[in-house]
Amino acid sequence: MVLILTRMVSGKVSFGLCSMYHELKEGKTVMATTKENLKEAFAGESQANQKYLAFAKEAEKAGFANVAKLFRTTAQAERIHAEGHFAALGGIGSTIENLEAAIGGETFEHNEMYPPMLAQAEADEHPAKRMFTFALKAEQVHAELYKKALEAVRNSQDITAEVWLCPICGHIELDNPPETCPICGAKASVFVQV
Ligand SMILES: [Fe+2]
Ligand SMILES: [Fe+2]
Repeated sequence: MVLILTRMVSGKVSFGLCSMYHELKEGKTVMATTKENLKEAFAGESQANQKYLAFAKEAEKAGFANVAKLFRTTAQAERIHAEGHFAALGGIGSTIENLEAAIGGETFEHNEMYPPMLAQAEADEHPAKRMFTFALKAEQVHAELYKKALEAVRNSQDITAEVWLCPICGHIELDNPPETCPICGAKASVFVQV
């Protein structure tokens, strides 16, 4: 099957989890490049993966165990697609390059992306301010941990620490869970290892 996506200045047509653009430049239809298509497909499949995992939890709670299984399985299918698109985009480098990219992403989120989002949510008194606050603080920790890992890998060492996740706010600690989470206050007993 040959799929041709075109782009149009007039706007974006969305349907379901996919979207298609048409762009007219001086009356000409311009074809999207494969790189643009890959970026869009990667974003869509990544979001579908997360949505289906959230839908699975909801189905589980409502007592539909097999519907939950279908959502979880389809989420994995979308992850397979997303990973393939990301690889085709050349997004996966050496571990040093990947850690550098991860530090860049986490630092951007902490310094530039979340502060105005949190300010807006606070101004709107929107419940999003809770998770924006958690994410803003946790991303800084993630960046610091990736920096430690980068230093180790540059010396051809793996990190030896155990890695603990707060499932409430996304805070991460090495070695041992903290008595209480410094971001959300959750107890050590709720921390998990992935
Ligand atoms: Fe993060
Ligand atoms: Fe937490």
